[in-house]
Amino acid sequence: MPFTLDARKAPPGSPLRDLARGTTDECVTAPAPYIHGSTDEREVARLEKQAFWCAGWMLRRFDAAPGMRVLDLATGVGAMAGQLLERFPGIELIGADLSRTQLQTAQQNHPTVRYVRANGAALPFPEATFDRVHWSWFLEHVSPEVSVQVLREVRRVLKPGGYVHFTEVDNSTFKTVPPLPKVLEAMDALNTGQQRAGGDPFIGPKLDGYARAAGFARVDARPSPIVGSEDDPVYFQGFIDEFSEIFESVDEALGAPLEEAAAELRALNKRPGTSIHYCGVIAQAHK
Ligand SMILES: C[S@@+](CC[C@H](N)C(=O)[O-])C[C@H]1O[C@@H](n2cnc3c(N)ncnc32)[C@H](O)[C@@H]1O
Repeated sequence: MPFTLDARKAPPGSPLRDLARGTTDECVTAPAPYIHGSTDEREVARLEKQAFWCAGWMLRRFDAAPGMRVLDLATGVGAMAGQLLERFPGIELIGADLSRTQLQTAQQNHPTVRYVRANGAALPFPEATFDRVHWSWFLEHVSPEVSVQVLREVRRVLKPGGYVHFTEVDNSTFKTVPPLPKVLEAMDALNTGQQRAGGDPFIGPKLDGYARAAGFARVDARPSPIVGSEDDPVYFQGFIDEFSEIFESVDEALGAPLEEAAAELRALNKRPGTSIHYCGVIAQAHK
């Protein structure tokens, strides 16, 4: 079972005693539909690999000292929570997610993190609870209104001087050289599917505006490009695996040639002079 925040069970003096405020099922609504299908073993392995592969890129500007209280929001199966604990030993890390099943997997795979079932748009924590809030690949799955409400809530629970650090997609920046027709078709289907599910695959450039609308005055939302090419064959392979595995994980109901797209992409680095490009947005908003 995931850790459930219960002030009565926290040891005396523990800051967790302050944290509980209505972490009940009544305040929790259903998570946004998840286009990557069910959380089976293969999908969990993909998320762990993704976190391992992306953490250096995503956390370049993140810092947290031992003793700091950090929230990994929309923690999913806890893959990035694991990376945070490994890179910032001594932090007090709490992983929160709306999905009970995701949290159960997180609890099994990363049992040293504490978990809370919570809606990011109505966080069950008092004001000024956290030194840092982190998330990855969350707001791409919710509406603009929910995104702003999440940021408002995060601003409320951050301590003055703290910040939220988050990474989101901008799928309009995905490109291979040369262009690969099946891959482009699969990306289009993936983007359309995500939009139909109420998400936004092009959210990256909108993050600055959302954070300001939520009351943050100091926002630094940077396009953060990554390139895979023969200059670094290991990284090139990792980049190709990442997107191929996304195609292989996506719901077949999207109706795109997903397996062919993955095969086309996996052949890319067998040819000289090829490359793959993506530019996510990594944002920090300070309270
Ligand atoms: C793509 S996963 C990201 C997982 C994790 N951050 C990672 O990088 O591996 C998106 C997560 O957002 C969660 N989620 C969706 N809507 C939410 C909400 N309103 N509040 C909290 N979590 C939510 C889903 O349950 C899912 O686990």
